[in-house]
Amino acid sequence: MQLPEQVTIVEVGPRDGLQNEPGTVPTAVKVGFIDRLARTGLQVVEATSFVHPTWVPQLADAAEVLAGIDPVEGVRYPVLVPNERGLDRALESGVDEVAVFGAASEAFSAKNLNRTIDESLEMFRPVVARAKDAGLRVRGYVSTVCGCPYQGDVPVADVVRMTVAMLELGCDEISLGDTIGVGTPGQVQDLLAAVAAEAPVERLAVHMHDTYGQGLVNTLAAFETGVTIADSSAGGLGGCPYAPGAKGNLATEDLVYALHGSGVATGVDLDALVDTTAWMAAKLGRPPASRAAEAILAKRDR
Ligand code: HMG
Ligand code: MG
Repeated sequence: MQLPEQVTIVEVGPRDGLQNEPGTVPTAVKVGFIDRLARTGLQVVEATSFVHPTWVPQLADAAEVLAGIDPVEGVRYPVLVPNERGLDRALESGVDEVAVFGAASEAFSAKNLNRTIDESLEMFRPVVARAKDAGLRVRGYVSTVCGCPYQGDVPVADVVRMTVAMLELGCDEISLGDTIGVGTPGQVQDLLAAVAAEAPVERLAVHMHDTYGQGLVNTLAAFETGVTIADSSAGGLGGCPYAPGAKGNLATEDLVYALHGSGVATGVDLDALVDTTAWMAAKLGRPPASRAAEAILAKRDR
């Protein structure tokens, strides 16, 4: 395989994972999860979202979470912000990186943001401009790149158009999200070829959900095309309340196991990560959705 020598993992468990939990996770547990993750060698831990609290009640304590964490030097803690109100709240909490999130499909944009794609871009425009003026790094998500829970197929041209539009707004990096985890490796490589023809590949990331068990192979397929940034979540937590049927993200343990075994550096201590996932699984009261974490924990028990 043609893989990069090293990659950056964006850990999204505390945000994508916990936004989808059926029950309320106490703020102290979220803080403990983030602090443990940040001490495993991960360079980026997406911490929470400053979205409307009625839309995502699970993350209504975003400010309290950020106030509670004990930041590790050199680790980035981005947060999601959909609009200026979200940015104001994030700035009050002293963040240094935000992410806006749009979609390649109109139907998903309407359900997730209550906006058409064009309206969402107009909502993001002042957010990105003000964030850049304040010296923040800005990530942009493009969701539903491999399929939409409401509209079905999503034309590649629509993904390319949204990626370019988000870069033109001033986003530093674009994460291409297979929100419902329906993509396959050939589809991902075709998609990346089309997107990378219009956007610098070093500014692209992939964000694969694992609904059909394709998260790992899809991420590796993207790495083969020159992408070097991937999102994943400890213990395979994740999903989107506005994407019915979407399972968790690719598990970070599965990704790290595959990469280290293939000679790709991540900077992550896999054992420390598994400790963190086991700690969180005990808090959530269910085993992790990660084959690698499961296997490592079983081996420890023997
Ligand atoms: P809206 O109802 O159209 O909001 O929702 P609005 O702009 O009409 O404002 C209505 C009221 O909400 C106002 O208050 C605002 O101040 C308030 P009022 O004047 O009536 O008193 N408000 C807020 N309050 C707190 N924080 C805010 C905020 N914004 C407005 N940020 C909105 C529009 C975008 C706010 C809403 O649709 C929303 O919050 N959506 C977020 C949905 C979400 O978080 N989805 C999950 C994340 S995306 C995802 O998971 C995919 C991803 O993982 C990638 C992948 O997998 O593909 C990233
Ligand atoms: Mg997601």
